[in-house]
Amino acid sequence: MKDTYEREIDYMRLSITDRCNLRCRYCMPDGIELLPRDEILTLDEIELICKEAAALGIHKLKITGGEPLVRKDCVSLVHSLKRIPGITQVTLTTNGVLLPEYAGDLKKAGIDGINVSLDTLDQENYREITGFDALPAVLKGIAQSQELGIRIKVNTVLQRDMNEEAWKSIARLAEIYPLDVRFIEMMPIGHGKSYETIANTVVLEKIKEKFGAAIRDESLHGNGPAIYYKIAGFRGSIGFISAIHGKFCSKCNRIRLTSTGQLKPCLCFGESISVKEAVRLGDRAKVRRQIEKAIIHKPGMHQFEQEAAITEKKDMRQIGG
Ligand code: GTP
Ligand code: 5AD
Ligand code: SF4
Repeated sequence: MKDTYEREIDYMRLSITDRCNLRCRYCMPDGIELLPRDEILTLDEIELICKEAAALGIHKLKITGGEPLVRKDCVSLVHSLKRIPGITQVTLTTNGVLLPEYAGDLKKAGIDGINVSLDTLDQENYREITGFDALPAVLKGIAQSQELGIRIKVNTVLQRDMNEEAWKSIARLAEIYPLDVRFIEMMPIGHGKSYETIANTVVLEKIKEKFGAAIRDESLHGNGPAIYYKIAGFRGSIGFISAIHGKFCSKCNRIRLTSTGQLKPCLCFGESISVKEAVRLGDRAKVRRQIEKAIIHKPGMHQFEQEAAITEKKDMRQIGG
């Protein structure tokens, strides 16, 4: 279905939990409150919403969190979403900590790709950013997934005076392994507001200086806003998600469903349209109307550059990125 700006909305991100097994300081520092479990949609409710979305032309689904793999039923969800008529792709965005446990089952369930959030390859630095010593598990999970033939993308957010230099070692992952690395600019959402963005234009220049020419890679790598480059000798590509210094809203193709059943037309704004009541009543027609409404109400672009215009107060873990 097209929105009012003629953008084809064919992708929905599903945040299936607000919980996480890490405490990244820009997303979920210690001491935050979690939602009561009965507020969270069940697997059947999520599946029903996705069936109605598929009937409206949503073909691709991304499962996110919080950390989606802390929900024990995440693998079953992949399995059932893959069987919805009209759904052509189901992918997952995870911090990777539980991948060693679940990679095999995810593969069997039919997962089409996994994005792993990883901000540093230094163990001490990883603990500083996330609060946990989980780096070896994440690396093991990436390796295991690759052995299973699952397509991997690494997501890295650089923070000034924290992991500013991590781009060097993380970019090398795309040299050594057949995976893509993407640098994400920090967005002023929730706790992310307290941290300064490092412009991706700067990161790209540094990468060119260190690794040589970077040529735009126009091949299709996914459904997201990343712009990719190829570097000679690299097996994977280097991507940039530049929400602040490279507005990509005119190509936006997505809506978001939060774990509490709110449809969010745009990351920047607090506005949401509820499907929770309708799905809990089993009112499929209303669920469909609410999805249509979310698509129709999609704003033309975000306003991250204007602090007063950002009405979203939630953290990324509550929205799903
Ligand atoms: P694929 O490439 O298809 O896997 O999609 P993706 O890049 O959208 O997936 P991923 O879940 O890895 O998203 C990476 C990050 O990009 C998200 O966590 C957000 O920070 C950012 N992002 C994704 N979609 C949007 C968007 O519509 N607007 C903005 N501002 N940022 C987004
Ligand atoms: N800005 C940009 N990216 C963020 N993430 C979490 N919070 C923010 C923010 N404020 C990233 C995580 C993960 C992805 C799902 O979202 O680091 O890679
Ligand atoms: Fe968890 Fe991802 Fe938020 Fe880190 S960024 S606390 S891994 S949801």
